[in-house]
Amino acid sequence: MKVGIIGSGGREHAICQTIKNSNKIEKLFCFPGNAGTKNIAENVNIDLENFEKIRDYILNKNIDLVVVGPEKPLVDGLVDYLEKFNIKVFGPNKIAAQLEGSKIFTKKICEKYNIPTAKFGIFYNTNEAIKFLQNSSFPSVIKADNLASGKGVYICNNIKEAQKAIDEIFGGKFGKAENLLIEEFLDGEEMSFFTIHDGENFKNFGTAQDHKRALEGDKGKNTGGMGAYSPSRLINEELEIKIINKIIKPTLKGLSELGTQYKGFLYTGLMIVKNEPYLVEYNVRMGDPECQTILPKLKTNLSDIFLACCEKKLNQINIEWVNKKSLCVVLCSKGYPEAYKNNVEIKNLDKIKLKNNNFMYHAGTSEDKNKIYAIGGRVLNFVSLSDNFALAKENIIENLQNLNWAGGFYRKDIGYKVIEDQ
Ligand code: AMP
Ligand code: GLY
Repeated sequence: MKVGIIGSGGREHAICQTIKNSNKIEKLFCFPGNAGTKNIAENVNIDLENFEKIRDYILNKNIDLVVVGPEKPLVDGLVDYLEKFNIKVFGPNKIAAQLEGSKIFTKKICEKYNIPTAKFGIFYNTNEAIKFLQNSSFPSVIKADNLASGKGVYICNNIKEAQKAIDEIFGGKFGKAENLLIEEFLDGEEMSFFTIHDGENFKNFGTAQDHKRALEGDKGKNTGGMGAYSPSRLINEELEIKIINKIIKPTLKGLSELGTQYKGFLYTGLMIVKNEPYLVEYNVRMGDPECQTILPKLKTNLSDIFLACCEKKLNQINIEWVNKKSLCVVLCSKGYPEAYKNNVEIKNLDKIKLKNNNFMYHAGTSEDKNKIYAIGGRVLNFVSLSDNFALAKENIIENLQNLNWAGGFYRKDIGYKVIEDQ
């Protein structure tokens, strides 16, 4: 079977690698991929906004299955487009992708189906928003209503911070904004809950906790994710049943009443308050770096799972996992998430001898004449599976120290809550 993976991050390298391990693969393609995928797939440099070119390439190469990693092409409707040409694609369609593409779309579903989430208001201009905030309590959460790579969310402690957030959003920092959302602040602990869907059936695909802030102690700016661990320390059977019955099933019902179905990964971002789940956001894909953290635990053949999803046969598959703890630390370019240097060489990659149950996935890297260069903010992901989180972290730190890349930095406290718990 020939498989094409759309995307170029750590998530896509992990998907490529896991599919590759499944031994039914004749050839992999990655659009556009990175230096890591280049070793196992053919990297295809096509602009992801050029659907026609992507289609032509897939049809010319007789690619049997396409897996879309990131949100942008999903929200732009790549799945709908390719399916018109009878191409098998794993990922949600354009309407379903609004669960991530528009926070207001999701909030409306929550309202209609009584899904637990923060109370909210939609505001169309600065005056209305400020008037509302003058009569409400802080902290308050202000969000842009479009794809903002996790950066369009402000937790404001006073009216001054709120004013700045509102000005930035309406000023177009995250693209043209006709409205914004003001939400009640939920005081709890976050958890990411993953499911995989074939349009009719779905199955659990693990839980994780990521660390979004750039600095140790969960401080500093928001990033795409500095590290993660799986499983979340919060998950238990009772909570899982609540998440499914109160949040996921009503959402799927909402989509079906809009005349559509959900196929692909669904990432439910939750705040857990006293063992009660509240929906913070949906993402219509795997998380990054949660994907790199969870996939090494998968025992079942990933390409079989994707195919079953495209053929509405997920109920015929039993998804099995290795019973281990997994931790992932992301090595970033110095300066990230602010400005950082590009094209910095990463030497010593050959000094890393990965032991059993240890993995390294590339993200923002490229290869030129056998040299590897950092070309993004998040550069490499180090993952380790172990019987406990502390051991997993020790293995990762050993690999990072062997690499000793002067151009990078990483958070040394990933998983601190679960490691202190041990
Ligand atoms: P989002 O892009 O919606 O996931 O928001 C980014 C981050 O902001 C989340 O991961 C939470 O840490 C935080 N956040 C978002 N909404 C809320 C809320 N209503 N209460 C507390 N924290 C929130
Ligand atoms: N790790 C957060 C995300 O993928 O959105």
